[in-house]
Amino acid sequence: MAYRSHHCGELRLNDAGKTVHLSGWVHRVRELGGMTFIDLRDRYGITQLAFNEFWDAQLMKEAQQLGRETVLQAEGEVLERSSKNDQLPTGEVELRVTGFKVLSAAHVPPFTIEDATDGGDELRMKYRYLDIRRRPVRENLLLRNEVNLAVRNYLHEQGFTEVETPYLIKSTPEGARDFVVPSRMNPGEFYALPQSPQTFKQLLMVGGMDKYYQIVKCFRDEDLRADRQPEFTQIDCEMSFVDQEDILNTFEGLTRHLLHKIRGIELDAFPRLSYNDAMRRYGNDKPDIRFGMEFVEFDAELRGTEFKVFSEAELVVGIKLEGGAERSRKQLDALRDLVQQPQLGMSGLIWARHQTDGSFTSSVNKFFDEQALKNWGSAFESQAGDLMLILAGAKDKTRSALSALRMHLADELGLRKADEFAPLWVVDFPLLEWDEDSERFHAMHHPFTSPKEEDIALLGTDPGAVRANAYDLVLNGNEIGGGSIRIHDRSLQKKMFKHLGFTEEEAQAQFGFLMDAFQYGAPPHGGIAFGFDRLVALLGGQETIRDFIAFPKNNAGRDVMIDAPSAIDPTQLDELELKTTHDPSAD
Ligand code: AMO
Repeated sequence: MAYRSHHCGELRLNDAGKTVHLSGWVHRVRELGGMTFIDLRDRYGITQLAFNEFWDAQLMKEAQQLGRETVLQAEGEVLERSSKNDQLPTGEVELRVTGFKVLSAAHVPPFTIEDATDGGDELRMKYRYLDIRRRPVRENLLLRNEVNLAVRNYLHEQGFTEVETPYLIKSTPEGARDFVVPSRMNPGEFYALPQSPQTFKQLLMVGGMDKYYQIVKCFRDEDLRADRQPEFTQIDCEMSFVDQEDILNTFEGLTRHLLHKIRGIELDAFPRLSYNDAMRRYGNDKPDIRFGMEFVEFDAELRGTEFKVFSEAELVVGIKLEGGAERSRKQLDALRDLVQQPQLGMSGLIWARHQTDGSFTSSVNKFFDEQALKNWGSAFESQAGDLMLILAGAKDKTRSALSALRMHLADELGLRKADEFAPLWVVDFPLLEWDEDSERFHAMHHPFTSPKEEDIALLGTDPGAVRANAYDLVLNGNEIGGGSIRIHDRSLQKKMFKHLGFTEEEAQAQFGFLMDAFQYGAPPHGGIAFGFDRLVALLGGQETIRDFIAFPKNNAGRDVMIDAPSAIDPTQLDELELKTTHDPSAD
């Protein structure tokens, strides 16, 4: 008997009368009087198998013994169903089974293989192969495949060549910690797994490859969140003889192509926002612009002089919640509690209502009269019924707290619609950012990013003010890609390392290979890398990338299915000339 002539999502009314073979998993067994039905499932769909005591009582009895998830091969005749199921593509037919064979018995699965399963996260991760049988997970993986193919086709059309770069490399400092791999042949020495193929793709440009891409695994030992995995995938790209405009156009084209191909959406030209404007208007360098609630900053006049919290603050800034004046004191207190959480660290939240009768009232009526509040209303362009929420304090902290409040309210009000897509470019990032812990500047993107020509002179006097030829692609409040025009001049690269606090020897030891390459004719070049997992998740209308990765790690960085990481054999340690002082069994 052939395993299958059709798959389980294929049979239709015009197949009635055919003798067919199907193979799949027993999804459900239902007994109904003198009949028994089995939903047989494979990756393509579900087909109903029918048994009837008048057709073959013995066969029906055997069918009733089949447990869920048994792997079955069935033969039979396609019949038109008497009661049709319009929820299923195969719902007009069923298979009158004439024989079946169990290909593989199955234990009762630890959770139900249904769209809305009863399994918790950890359990589903432990039995990921069962989770993958569920439609939502399977569809995510199929979507990932579709996006992957669309990316490759587009880049191939544009003349890009995929080149593989090594996974066992020397570390490149890009902000996160490296995963390291000991070398048996070079005792005491380690490879690092790449955080990205950054230096290699630049060397490919020196090698004349011109337009490179790679859909590639990257590894970063950093704290995990919904949008971060220790190993994740980038669409990594680099081009020669290009300026920023060329890169933005090419990859705006790719994003537009994907949204059209995958979601059937035509997008307008992507807005561009400077880093400074993004911070001023949204308090965030990856703003969600699907909804308004833009920041309104208070000038000295709006702040007044009486209320010290305002007059002495570095920044006073607020957002307007349309129709929010109805919110109760309890609801407002909950918003205050939110900004007072330790991670946001604000001391309080000030509110002002533009009431439905046109009058104003606020949590600081003691300090501000009706006219002052009216002036606030004008600044916010408020209407009767609106609510103003205001924070005051140090600039960066206040902006990020208000941004968190803005996102919280948008989530609460359902303004972050999964089927709406609002991409934008954030450009003109600062080249350097000050790091309080190490008391020195770090590259905001990475050390190979070029400064804006007109700002180079500031490197010596005001390094924090130097802008970079760096850009991020933001979609629905998520950074889905980032890149820059690189330095391709040896002396400028050397100067850059100096500003980043490297001694000449350190720079030579870590990046000598790149600076040496620049001596042999380096083309001007630049590129970008997309977070592929994030992109796929957003195209799927979600933000948790774990659900779009076949075998992800949990939040502790563990694969609970294969139980990794794990201790290794002492002989392996000996071979690697590594000693451990840590006894995991004592944990
Ligand atoms: P960057 O560090 O900005 O740039 O990374 C590019 C994109 O990768 C995604 N990303 C992640 N996705 C999942 N889990 C993670 N831990 C994770 N970290 C980053 C983000 C991000 O925008 N070499 C440069 C690119 C370049 O300059 O061309 C780089 O790696 O979506």
